[in-house]
Amino acid sequence: MEKTGPFPEARSDRLEADISRMSEFTDRSQKGWTRSAFTEVYNEGRRWLRSRMEAAGLTTRMDAAANLIGRLEGADSSLPPIVLGSHTDTVRNGGRFDGVIGVLAGIEAVRLLREHEIRLRHPLEIIDFTAEEPTDFGISTIGSKAVAGNLTAGMLELQDPDGRSLAEAIRSAGGNPEDIISARRKPGDIAAYFELHIEQGPVLEKSRKELGVVTGIVGILRLLLTVTGSPDHSGTTPMTLRRDSLAGAAEMLLHLEKLCREPADAPLVGTIGRITVSPNAPNVIAGETHLNVEIRSTDAELMEATGASFLSGCCRIAESRSLLLESRRMSFTAPVSIEERMMEIVRTACSDVSPRYAELVSGAGHDANQIAGIAPVGMIFVPSRDGRSHCPEEDTDREHIRAGTDALLRCVTALDTAEEDGS
Ligand code: GLV
Ligand code: MN
Ligand code: MN
Repeated sequence: MEKTGPFPEARSDRLEADISRMSEFTDRSQKGWTRSAFTEVYNEGRRWLRSRMEAAGLTTRMDAAANLIGRLEGADSSLPPIVLGSHTDTVRNGGRFDGVIGVLAGIEAVRLLREHEIRLRHPLEIIDFTAEEPTDFGISTIGSKAVAGNLTAGMLELQDPDGRSLAEAIRSAGGNPEDIISARRKPGDIAAYFELHIEQGPVLEKSRKELGVVTGIVGILRLLLTVTGSPDHSGTTPMTLRRDSLAGAAEMLLHLEKLCREPADAPLVGTIGRITVSPNAPNVIAGETHLNVEIRSTDAELMEATGASFLSGCCRIAESRSLLLESRRMSFTAPVSIEERMMEIVRTACSDVSPRYAELVSGAGHDANQIAGIAPVGMIFVPSRDGRSHCPEEDTDREHIRAGTDALLRCVTALDTAEEDGS
């Protein structure tokens, strides 16, 4: 790294202006902020983001998975890029900070490097990964899966409830699903990946910390259960003769809650956050119920064992109620433990910015889960007010976002220099 002058500091006013502008790209018919992947408002937000990348001096392109990539060349063109990234899609009725700050902080880091005439040896890429949040196709982290080589042909054929395939959705977002392989990066193609993200939980705020060094990220097992009964008249069918798929599904949900409340050797959570009932009428017994199930832990074996015992319990419940049960494994994202070398870079960067930092595990999934399969990853967290996230109340102190951006830039320069030293 060629460096002149004091270490640059991020500008809160610019970060705030960008966060606020991005928040205007939202589905106004919904509460809070809704920018679902593959919608027009998502594409509009990314067009604006692309213009911000270009104004910061980045060359932009969209890869075959519709990941939006801004690149700043380094002094040594033989080196692989350092990558900073996250996502700009939101959950429905979500907040303004999840994902967004990681991408906008990356752009601010580029502005700072250029203003302070700091030339990195490595190229620097800022990536807005496509569709990090769960989609109607039943999978999430679509863009980073493609980069890590985990987006399969079968996944591209998945359909949303309107019958649109994931391949078509990627094309509508500007990607090229026929050539999805070209989005893939091999081990060695990325020097290191850093992601700044809101914590989305209460740990940092409760301990009055400003920054978090992520030590590991939970894995996520996602299942789609279809419970089939008989859609009969709600008034004329005696209670003992019903095959009510929703009642069976309710028992399955409580079974998952019980399993995940049992003491375990690692953090474990299980959630059924989406239930689709058909025909969904007040006077018809539910004939078919779909359950979106997820199980998260830092321990892959525990996730698998919990999934297996959940499914065997569901089979028993289905049998006792004369229901049919079908289960589909939608995805399995492995837990990540962050390499000590990367944690040390993040730890030093955070401690240079503030003495108030702590180490913690991420209970949320991130694009970093995918990228960890092909490159060293590091993550910085900033506190979430009242621990709230995936809701309109999601908020983070702007000074914490500025501190996180400063730490992110320090990670980049440290990595750039460490590789020079051969350390
Ligand atoms: C991402 O927001 C997740 O589901 O953890
Ligand atoms: Mn999220
Ligand atoms: Mn996120």
